[in-house]
Parts: sequence; structure tokens; C-alpha cells
Amino acid sequence: MTQKTLVFATNNINKLKEVQQMLPSSFKLLSLEDINCFNEIKETSTTLEGNAKLKANYITNKFGVNCFADDTGLEVDFLNGKPGVFSARYADETNNSEKNMQKLLANLKGITNRNAQFRTSICLNLEGNQYLFEGICKGEILTQKQGEKGFGYDPIFKPNGYNKSFAEITAEEKNTISHRGLAIKKLVDFLTEYYLK
Ligand code: IMP
Repeated sequence: MTQKTLVFATNNINKLKEVQQMLPSSFKLLSLEDINCFNEIKETSTTLEGNAKLKANYITNKFGVNCFADDTGLEVDFLNGKPGVFSARYADETNNSEKNMQKLLANLKGITNRNAQFRTSICLNLEGNQYLFEGICKGEILTQKQGEKGFGYDPIFKPNGYNKSFAEITAEEKNTISHRGLAIKKLVDFLTEYYLK
């Protein structure tokens, strides 16, 4: 099989490596930097799917390449799905995880319904067609931080079936159950099958 290149609309090298490791070696992933795209792609949509589409479409239209993009949010039941698409900027525009967690803990103070889910949406533009993939990880918001690993809301999110937070399990373990891991697996399965046909 000849090598296929695919752009992942991200500058997060860790995310890129994680997906590259899950793909057969016949796929070569390129980052935005690899294609000399240094423009900021504004995430102006009010939905995760919308932002994933917006980023993938920007790259495909501007550079004429196959591309995928992702967007993730933490959706809390008691807050009617918030912070959702605004997860990174929940407290303010600084994208500060500590402030975001403190705001969420304050908004859930004394609330017993702490059900929440992380949801990742991936949009793939491939040879003129568009495909969407989704990964969900259900769990609950703890009343205080637990653990040091991970990033974002990991210390206050406990996945269902575990008695540890995302910040207390290894990255490998998290990948097998996480929203992003599940969405990426769907993408990888699709790509593998698509090119095998
Ligand atoms: P992004 O779309 O992957 O950049 O995620 C948006 C925001 O959601 C991040 O800035 C984090 O605050 C939060 N987030 C996404 N994925 C995770 C995760 O796996 N654990 C904790 N927080 C996350």
C-alpha cells in the first residue's frame, strides 16, 4: 500500500503522536505547522461538531488536502450541557484549567446530581466527502480535585466504573476509555477500512 498523507488540524504535537501511533504505518499524519499553516482558526461555532467542521473545512479549502479536526467539551447535566463547547474558556478567556475547575466546583456546590460526560467530535474531509465521528465518556464531577496527572478537568472527573479520577490513571488507561480515545478509534477503523476496500 502506498503511503497516504492526512492533515490533523492541530498544533498539539502530543495529540498528533497519539493518533499517529494508532494508525497503520501506511498513514502519515501532518500537523498544521508541517503544511506551513500558522493562521489562527477561530472556533466560533456554538457546537463541538460545528467547530470540528469549521477547522477541517478551513484547511481543506485553503490547502486542498484531506484533513480532520477535533473538538472536545465537558457536558454537565445539572448545567444543561455546559460548559460544553466553552470548556477551555469557562472561567475567562485565559484557558486556565485551575480557574475553570474552581468555577465548575463552585457552580455544583451542594448539588447531588453530578453526572457529566466528555464528548469529542471529529470531522474528516476525505476525497471530497465529509464524515463525523463521536466519542463519549460518561462519569461524574467530584466535589474536590483528586490526582496530579492529565490536564484540563481531569482531577475533578471520575469516569463511570472507576473509583479514581482521570488524573489518577495512566495515559494509556485513559486512552482506552476516554471520549477522545473512542472517537479516534472510530476514525482509525474507518480510515483503515476505507483504504483497504
Ligand atoms: P480541545 O477541543 O481538545 O482543545 O478541548 C477543549 C477543552 O476541554 C480543553 O481546554 C480542556 O479544558 C477540556 N478537555 C478536553 N479534553 C479533556 C480531557 O481529556 N480531560 C480534561 N479536560 C479536557
